[in-house]
Amino acid sequence: MSDVRELVRAALPGVRADLERLVRIPSVSAPGWDGAPVRQSAQAVAEVLRASGADARVVEVPDGRPAVVGRVAGPPGAPTVLLYAHHDVQPPGPAELWTTPPYEPSERGGRLFGRGSSDDKAGVATHAAALRAWGGKPPVGIALFIEGEEESGSAHLGEYLARERETLRCDAVVVADAGNWRVGQPALTTTLRGTVACTVEVRTADHAVHSGQYGGPVPDALSALAHVLSSLHDERGRVRIPGLARAGAGAPAERSESDPLDLSDDELRAYAGVRPSVRLLGDGTLTSRLWHQPAVSVLAIDATPVREASNQLVPFARARVSLRIPPGQDGAAAMAALGGHLEKSAPWGAEVTVIPGSIGEPFVTSTKSAAYRAMRDALRDAWGREPLDIGIGGSIPFLHELTSAFPGVDVVVTGMGDPESNAHSENESLHLGDFASGCVAEALFLERLANVTGGAKA
Ligand code: BES
Ligand code: MN
Repeated sequence: MSDVRELVRAALPGVRADLERLVRIPSVSAPGWDGAPVRQSAQAVAEVLRASGADARVVEVPDGRPAVVGRVAGPPGAPTVLLYAHHDVQPPGPAELWTTPPYEPSERGGRLFGRGSSDDKAGVATHAAALRAWGGKPPVGIALFIEGEEESGSAHLGEYLARERETLRCDAVVVADAGNWRVGQPALTTTLRGTVACTVEVRTADHAVHSGQYGGPVPDALSALAHVLSSLHDERGRVRIPGLARAGAGAPAERSESDPLDLSDDELRAYAGVRPSVRLLGDGTLTSRLWHQPAVSVLAIDATPVREASNQLVPFARARVSLRIPPGQDGAAAMAALGGHLEKSAPWGAEVTVIPGSIGEPFVTSTKSAAYRAMRDALRDAWGREPLDIGIGGSIPFLHELTSAFPGVDVVVTGMGDPESNAHSENESLHLGDFASGCVAEALFLERLANVTGGAKA
């Protein structure tokens, strides 16, 4: 084991340089953003993986964002592990909120700051580190899939999987896009929520009118939209959408008194920067609320901006609504329940149109597979600490799609995020100590998997 650890340590400076190179590329995949940087990012990922010993290339389907696929041959008869990450990122948000610019990687306090430093260019770098440690001759076969549109809903994933079926053929998959429980505390993610989103449009009149001349009998669309949106929660902040599967169905049992996942209200508030007067929503343990219950939020509203406000009744407004769904909830059924509820909640006969968005299914991994056990052992060895099984409230649509395309594949979900990473927000960062341990763990995992499967899985 110490050999592999030393080899990873030796590879780390190069891997860090690769990671910084990737963070410098603004690979935002969101609709409406220039596609050129994502393409440039895909090229850079392919180069990094080739330099790490893989036969890697960029692939692109019409209207999709480019992905990178690749393979490294293993010993004859050895199983093949697919290594997954994504190279696209979320938009950076307001520049003035970043302490150092989003695309200039910068180290402070043992963390590397920059958009994608953690989510999920660190995942790409982890795979590169594991390959480099093995000098391009890993003890198992390797397949690589680095997606370019995960952050915008993975609309073409099925097409990529179908087109590259031969390249991606595998016995197990490591999805390095989740995270650890806390800094210094490794974890394996075993449950993920899914997500469904829609746009809800409200119209009350053909055109705007004077708010004094007509206000009173004539409703405005923003007030109507506010009614529709306020119907999503009850007074305690529980999700109030009829027709969703019972909360927690299909999810692991509630945690016990001796739960090592001892997240307190205060800790959660501090991580999320919740204001002191604001109450936390819902009921049940925090982990059940975060992982095993639905959550609904309003992501955005299009309406007259305040600086352009005038005394008129607004005839039209719209909002994006996102519903996180727990394991046990079918995505299409959740979308139907959400849309139906929004339509029925219109006050005063206002016209409501719901435009469904993308669906990402929830996922539960097996804790019985050889790959899961190998990764647990590898995490323990790398950190010198017992890993935890955790859930995440976020979603990785790839998991459901991959296991639909390749039934029977063993799934392991790791990642470089932690509660302080600020993924999707300003000042995103990666904990460099945990990153080094994560790279060691992945390199060790390949060896352990080769050993438990005897290097000869059909
Ligand atoms: N890396 C995240 C998933 C994640 C979220 C891991 C929270 C750990 C904690 C992933 O890149 C992501 O953000 N996924 C999107 C998927 C969506 C666009 C379908 C999400 O959850 O919003
Ligand atoms: Mn991610």
